[in-house]
Amino acid sequence: MDYQRDQKQLIQWYKKNRRALPWRENKDPYRIWLSEVMLQQTTVVAVIPYFEKFLKNFPTVQDLASAPEHDVLESWAGLGYYSRARNLHKAAKALAENGFPKTAAELLELPGFGPYTSRAVASIAFGEKVGVLDGNVIRVLSRKYGLKVEWWNTKARQQLQELSDKLSAFGNSDSVNQGLMELGATVCTPQKVMCLMCPWSTDCVAREKNLVEKLPLKKPRKQSEVWVWNPVVSIKNNKVALIANDYAPFLKGQMIFPGTISQNDDKPKDYDAKHNITHHDIFIKIAHKKSVSDRNIQWVELKNLKKVNPSSLLQKVLHKVDI
Ligand code: ADE
Repeated sequence: MDYQRDQKQLIQWYKKNRRALPWRENKDPYRIWLSEVMLQQTTVVAVIPYFEKFLKNFPTVQDLASAPEHDVLESWAGLGYYSRARNLHKAAKALAENGFPKTAAELLELPGFGPYTSRAVASIAFGEKVGVLDGNVIRVLSRKYGLKVEWWNTKARQQLQELSDKLSAFGNSDSVNQGLMELGATVCTPQKVMCLMCPWSTDCVAREKNLVEKLPLKKPRKQSEVWVWNPVVSIKNNKVALIANDYAPFLKGQMIFPGTISQNDDKPKDYDAKHNITHHDIFIKIAHKKSVSDRNIQWVELKNLKKVNPSSLLQKVLHKVDI
């Protein structure tokens, strides 16, 4: 394997083909960090407006650190996983005081900084020679090097991490890592692969062996779990009562109807609607109540519900209720 040649081909391709994205305008670690956290939630296209709005509200890490949590969560609304926004806020307080550490090992100590985010920020903002590993990178590397590995297990992940580190070790880790991400997002995609656009097409093991569709290996599906959810739908003056979800195992941390939930062995006989999220089969039995008494309730305009939580699960429940 000629990793150095692979690295050169990759960065050449990246420099020519990279998309002009707002977080690529400069090396401000705050912007880069924010973009990486948001990009764990959704796609580049969906993130851009949130990114711009968030930066307008909190232009620097100091502004973020001194903002009330409520304002931070409001700017995050719609992206889901509010724990990410809370961690962002917590880490901002530490960073505003002490500045950004420049290595992945130090960043890893901060709230919300996992291996991926730490490595992404250290390499993109500070040029540390560390590789990143996320779903896109796993796909690109397992195809390029023809790796039939169970990437969801620790050992295989380490192997992939070492491979990613090897490519970054030659330097230009910013372009190597963003090149891998870009390749995974635009060329070496899960479906409809565009090998003709790929800098590695003539030296890709998966392509040579006709394994592109087979790699990366598919993670075995978890058995579906049956859950019975009793959401309380309370509507007053065109506003609906929501709470930050701290009780259901799906849509964690997102704004949902208050209510109760239980796991069942079998599907219930009587229910109003059914919904599936990843490995959760959710059977919905709506509890109508005029009033709700939870001090964490937030009243949200019905017309804003989709913005606050775009999940079709909430829409489905609402459609079953006579307003
Ligand atoms: N996905 C995660 N990080 C990214 C980045 N910096 N550019 C494009 N896509 C990404």
